[in-house]
Amino acid sequence: MLPPETALWNFVESAVRDVFRAYNFQEIRTPIFEATELFARGVGEDTDIVSKEMFTFPLRPTRPELVDEIFEMSEMKPDLFTPGGEFVSSEDKMEFEKRKRSESISLRPEATASVCRAYIEHGMHTLPGNVKLYYMGPMFRRERPQKGRYRQFYQIGAEVLSHTGDLKDDARVDAEVIEMLTTFFEKAGLEGTALYLNSIGCKECRPKYVELLRAALTKVKDKLGPDSQRRIETNPLRVLDSKLESEQAIIEKLPRIAEHLCPDCLEEYTEVKKQLAMRGISYAQNFRLVRGLDYYMRTTFEITAPGLGSQNAVCGGGRYDGLVELLGGPPTKGIGFAIGTDRVILSLQDMRKLPVERALDVYVAWMGEKNYPAAVKIARRLREAGLAVELPPGEMKFGKALGLADKLGARYALIIGDDEVASGQFTVKRLEDGEQKKLGERELVAYLKAGEAP
Ligand code: HAM
Repeated sequence: MLPPETALWNFVESAVRDVFRAYNFQEIRTPIFEATELFARGVGEDTDIVSKEMFTFPLRPTRPELVDEIFEMSEMKPDLFTPGGEFVSSEDKMEFEKRKRSESISLRPEATASVCRAYIEHGMHTLPGNVKLYYMGPMFRRERPQKGRYRQFYQIGAEVLSHTGDLKDDARVDAEVIEMLTTFFEKAGLEGTALYLNSIGCKECRPKYVELLRAALTKVKDKLGPDSQRRIETNPLRVLDSKLESEQAIIEKLPRIAEHLCPDCLEEYTEVKKQLAMRGISYAQNFRLVRGLDYYMRTTFEITAPGLGSQNAVCGGGRYDGLVELLGGPPTKGIGFAIGTDRVILSLQDMRKLPVERALDVYVAWMGEKNYPAAVKIARRLREAGLAVELPPGEMKFGKALGLADKLGARYALIIGDDEVASGQFTVKRLEDGEQKKLGERELVAYLKAGEAP
């Protein structure tokens, strides 16, 4: 990322800070890498993110203890391995995989698991009120790079963790989080976004729905592509994600989870929609929105933006009650989202929404080695006054210096030569129209400040 694009990043990030602050969120910074185990348990071992996309490193390059351990295991329980060195039982293999993971670290593929880990580690459940945190920074996934999809990408995310409140309160928190998001997108100037909403139920109703879906899919198996056929067994929900043209009509006719929610989930979903309507936030329900991470339950949502091609999701999120508990903490509810910052930037660029980079205010054209100290002094004085000043390290001929000032986009050139130093009156030239003035130091600062861009 190079300037001037970085100015756009700064603009987006400062909009985030303003808006999130207004909703009383505070920043958390989590490590770039964590124990692999955290993501395996938090995000889910069978998700694409954990099973295929993490950048994982052994903590010790040669892991001698582990080798010893395997050796010991095989000595003590020779029937653990086949003659070919394979594990006999899948439990032993799982136990081994678990130990291997506890010995390794991974670059964070997302930050929700880390936030929950920190919540537990720092006893944040004892804090007053709901814990409202936001973060921004790089995440890492081993994906095939393309426009809007990178192996190092950036997220802006927020999480609300709470240990009190009923279903109605939860729905209000969900709606407020979504309101904050829409406010941010507005402030950032992102137009044409669409909000998609779904409820994916809970531990009670989802498994029943999944069975129903599996049965419905089995009936139409022959009409599905090989990926979806496989997923009937492994993860039928993923079939809903399919982009395959030939499967679209079939998917439209499949049972929808919103029609199979348990009373609690239905109550919350209904309330979330009511809350969004009350806040004047428009959305479309999308029964195919299942999200690719294991921790979600009930409310899930995604936001798309134009100008991004196939990778058009700029934000994804949802509710994850129980994740903190799964990671060893107290019963806690959670809801959050992450915005793909790279995609927001791409979409803004596509709309030609480029912030005006703050111009260079003053170029100090100094002449004569002995006048350099005076140039240093005045440059410092102007910088203290908040002006952006370029002081060239080497002496230049007058014409060349003015040419460079122009190329750098400076608004003023300050000329410092023998006469100026002797008289204490500086010559300042407005480059736009060539207007020239002679001013003492104090008037000079006032003059330059007055002409500053807003
Ligand atoms: P996610 O849907 O995996 O959710 O990612 C959120 C957003 O990050 C996506 O909508 C997309 O904009 C962006 N993103 C993901 N992968 C890439 C990539 N390879 N390149 C560029 N952008 C990408 C999560 O990560 C959850 N932790 C969100 C959440 C927070 N749910 C609850 N709390």
